[in-house]
Amino acid sequence: MIDRFRSDLTWSDVTPRGMFLNRRQLIAGAAGLAFAGPAAAKIAARPSAYSTDATPNSLADITSYNNYYEFGTGKDDPAANAGGLTISPWSVEIGGMVDKPGSYGLEDILKHVTLEERIYRFRCVEAWSMVVPWIGFPLSDLLARAGVGAGAKYVAFQTLMRPEEMPGESYPILDWPYREGLRLDEAMHPLTILATGLYGEALPRQNGAPIRLVVPWKYGFKSIKAIVRITLTDKRPPTAWNTENPREYGFFSNVNPAVDHPRWSQATERPLGGGLFAGRVPTQLFNGYGDQVAALYAGQDLKADF
Ligand code: MTE
Repeated sequence: MIDRFRSDLTWSDVTPRGMFLNRRQLIAGAAGLAFAGPAAAKIAARPSAYSTDATPNSLADITSYNNYYEFGTGKDDPAANAGGLTISPWSVEIGGMVDKPGSYGLEDILKHVTLEERIYRFRCVEAWSMVVPWIGFPLSDLLARAGVGAGAKYVAFQTLMRPEEMPGESYPILDWPYREGLRLDEAMHPLTILATGLYGEALPRQNGAPIRLVVPWKYGFKSIKAIVRITLTDKRPPTAWNTENPREYGFFSNVNPAVDHPRWSQATERPLGGGLFAGRVPTQLFNGYGDQVAALYAGQDLKADF
């Protein structure tokens, strides 16, 4: 078996990803085209050595069971309500402690990066999980282009605030706009990507189009969608869920079976798509990415820094 985390892999070592599509997923894929419009084209992306060997969930699962409170709090609300979000033109304001602050247009961002397909395990704080074939690029590539300033210690992210198109923002569900944050070393880690697609096509709106964060060793809520602002700072930034309920949602939010959510166990998870009677499986520390990221937390008490 190939060790997909070896850094000396060449593209040709990695199985072409088209092969995992089975008939059911192809049918789901055809239905999924409705999200992206009839002109949806396959995105050229190289397979990534960072992918897991796990079989991805179907496109139907990934695009119909979502958390995106700007479009409602039900799992099927984002697929039903996100269709009207204007995602082009789009730009990301990069500021704070950077050498080249400014507005970075999405097309221009994409011109300077190499897109990869990265199949990542995804673990939601609600104790379900899935496997997603993202298309994206390392966040570190964009931060390097903006030039990380000497004193920067954290990266703050912010979602679009546009209540006319994001109806949930008119209700006091969260302290809008949705915000997230990473420590700089977490943000620069090669597993941390900005995703602009999945299953070989442009990102569906319910999954965070046109650009969202993916941090595979942390609970899903860290993976903020529809990003319009990235700020480098020397102070730990406020985040949506930590602001909402600091007792239940810490800043780090690393997947950890030994640290329970105050209201439920985090020791096991329910893989989505396994059918009604599929069992739960043990959750792995750092969602199985421990070999890659445990060193980031050496010396930290993960129960205190949850
Ligand atoms: N980003 C924004 N802007 N708003 C949200 O409500 N929900 C988060 C995260 N990013 C959320 C968000 C949560 S709780 C999860 S589990 C993931 O998105 C879900 O991502 P998915 O719908 O692509 O599976």
